Amino acid sequence: MTTDPPFAIAVEHLTVSYNARPALLDVSVNIETDRLIGIIGPNGAGKSTFIKAVLGFVKPDLGTVRIKGINVQNAKGQVAYVPQRGAVDWDFPITVKEVALMGRYQQIPWYASPKKKDWDIAEEALQMVRMEEFSNRQIGELSGGQQQRVFMARALAQGSDILLLDEPFAGVDAATERAILDVLERAKKSGKTLVVVHHDLSTAAEYFDKLLLIKQRLYAYGSPGEVIREDLLSQVYEGRLRIFSDVIKKEGNP
Ligand SMILES: Nc1ncnc2c1ncn2[C@@H]1O[C@H](COP(=O)(O)OP(=O)(O)O)[C@@H](O)[C@H]1O
Ligand SMILES: [Mg+2]
Repeated sequence: MTTDPPFAIAVEHLTVSYNARPALLDVSVNIETDRLIGIIGPNGAGKSTFIKAVLGFVKPDLGTVRIKGINVQNAKGQVAYVPQRGAVDWDFPITVKEVALMGRYQQIPWYASPKKKDWDIAEEALQMVRMEEFSNRQIGELSGGQQQRVFMARALAQGSDILLLDEPFAGVDAATERAILDVLERAKKSGKTLVVVHHDLSTAAEYFDKLLLIKQRLYAYGSPGEVIREDLLSQVYEGRLRIFSDVIKKEGNP
């Protein structure tokens, strides 16, 4: 008998509250492996909370999260995370290669020092994001987009198959956006599953294989054509939809 491989991320009836106010309500979704998935929805929709629940950082009121079939509480370290840039202290004195090496810390026992193999993996990860030339620079000296790529290297060095990124394109210039997208696409080709919070509807369909539209509840999960639809977006973005009408036309929905 053959069974289908488990989903990368399986979420069932997920409800997460802060101070008794639900940020996510009864969200169920199965995310396949080897895909580039975008999470869209307005500010405060629960996008970051979704990512934190999949990391096991927040405790659900109800529901389950499974990572490749295993309950998230027993799957720590299976998922790598690139936080929002604003969440990081960039003045901390640490070099680029040390940041990449931090991705290895879960694999290094507390009593041991990093081995050559760990440094090699960190260096490969920096090559993957094309930041190897900057190995010995202080992280605080880099541009925002370069810092973002170094944090992607840290996540890649962890060796997880699943990467979660919270708004990696926020506040970067167009050239950096291309560079980051290029890293995401190469990571996908190498077999990773990437789930990316994205706030720009005008590029969402172009960048991602599938989109997940949330505002407290899950409104849609599917191909860009299935999700970038006026009826869905008007429910989620309410009065702000007019600015997106061009996007919907561009996607040529039936
Ligand atoms: N640590 C927290 N404590 C209290 N409320 C929070 C906390 N984090 C998020 N929230 C609230 O939960 C809701 C969803 O937040 P968030 O997941 O950050 O949304 P998004 O990332 O889509 O902007 C918002 O109303 C936000 O104010
Ligand atoms: Mg957020």
